[in-house]
Amino acid sequence: MSSFQGRYIVLGVSGSISTYKAVSLASALVQTGALVDVILTAAATQLVQPLSFQAITHRQVHTDLFYPEAETEGHAGHVSLARQADAVLIAPATANTIAKLALGLADNFLLTTCLAALCPIVVAPAMESAMWTHAATQGHVATLQSRGVRIVGPEVGYLASGASGVGRLAESETILAALAAALTPQDLAGRRLVVTAGGTREALDPVRYVGNRSSGRMGYAVAQAAARRGAEVALIHGPTGLPAPTGVRAVAVESAAEMLAAVLREIESADALLMAAAVADYRPAEVAPQKIKKGADELPLRLVRTPDILAEVRQHQQPGLVVVGWAAESTNLVANARDKLERKGLDLIVANPVPQTFGAGEVQATLIGRDGDVTPLPPLSKHELANRLLDLVLVRLQSRP
Ligand code: CTP
Repeated sequence: MSSFQGRYIVLGVSGSISTYKAVSLASALVQTGALVDVILTAAATQLVQPLSFQAITHRQVHTDLFYPEAETEGHAGHVSLARQADAVLIAPATANTIAKLALGLADNFLLTTCLAALCPIVVAPAMESAMWTHAATQGHVATLQSRGVRIVGPEVGYLASGASGVGRLAESETILAALAAALTPQDLAGRRLVVTAGGTREALDPVRYVGNRSSGRMGYAVAQAAARRGAEVALIHGPTGLPAPTGVRAVAVESAAEMLAAVLREIESADALLMAAAVADYRPAEVAPQKIKKGADELPLRLVRTPDILAEVRQHQQPGLVVVGWAAESTNLVANARDKLERKGLDLIVANPVPQTFGAGEVQATLIGRDGDVTPLPPLSKHELANRLLDLVLVRLQSRP
């Protein structure tokens, strides 16, 4: 889930059947560290009590009913909310609220706040299909987008009318990912990144394989951070069981050979390749066509080398492709990683000492560049490490001829 630690979010809620979902959105924001001020339109107060939001945010909820008192009693009024907020999220946004926003109307607390806002605005529409596809609504949405407002959803699904169609409020995770992206500089916009993650499985017979314990979390964190910074991301992953991060195109593979084929296909139009996957170095020499039956006390297993994906990538040399590899080293971390960087023709390598002895979820790494740059990092979350790495990738992308 996205983190909103220390962020000040104004959550605007308008009156839709999905208004109740805004309560769990508010809760998710608070749980990930945000300070949340909720503004309900009059219609929203007909559907959910302000008290529900107040109990979750521990803050005064703003409604039009309280509006005059709010200004006179020294509560944050619309201008101070708008000035202080890091972002305004409107979820759900009805056709009526979207239309008024596009026209710059300001006849309630939420709209006045939006008009005075200097921060990014994210809008999650929810309405019946016919209202969403109506030319008026589509025109208003286009107007908002042209002003930099981020629209998230709506999705296709079951609607209040009982019909199925487009108009359903986007899933909370999708809305929060859009909000996180709105709070993140889009410095990778227009860049295409290919990220690999997880371990590969090398078949022994139709039901067994040789594999490794890679969780895939590092590669997923890189893919998520890159997407949040505006990159177009293809995530080529082994079987991890992890959900694909929002906004990332996931390509599932199993063996090293399949991963190689997917990587060569995806890098054709890419700017960077980040090989976080734990690719098997060996595979069973023969794959039995039928399940191997138990028999003798010993069953020797002959293994042969798999393709080295990074080496193959270098042979297919994509001009300007920035290539990042990983190295897990138990001795001479920097020297061994640098050697690997040279051998594999990498631009950057993420050197991890093994074994890692830090708290769950934290990793220590040293980032080493082909240019001799060595950046030792403290133990960081995988998400933070991903962003530090992407900063260095961006520098290299910017310095390409
Ligand atoms: N890698 C690859 N193809 C393979 C094996 C590894 O592209 N068949 C990539 C990994 O994704 C990683 C980098 O190579 O980015 C380094 O992997 P690692 O296993 O540490 O290095 P090896 O080259 O296998 O060397 P060694 O096992 O001797 O440490």
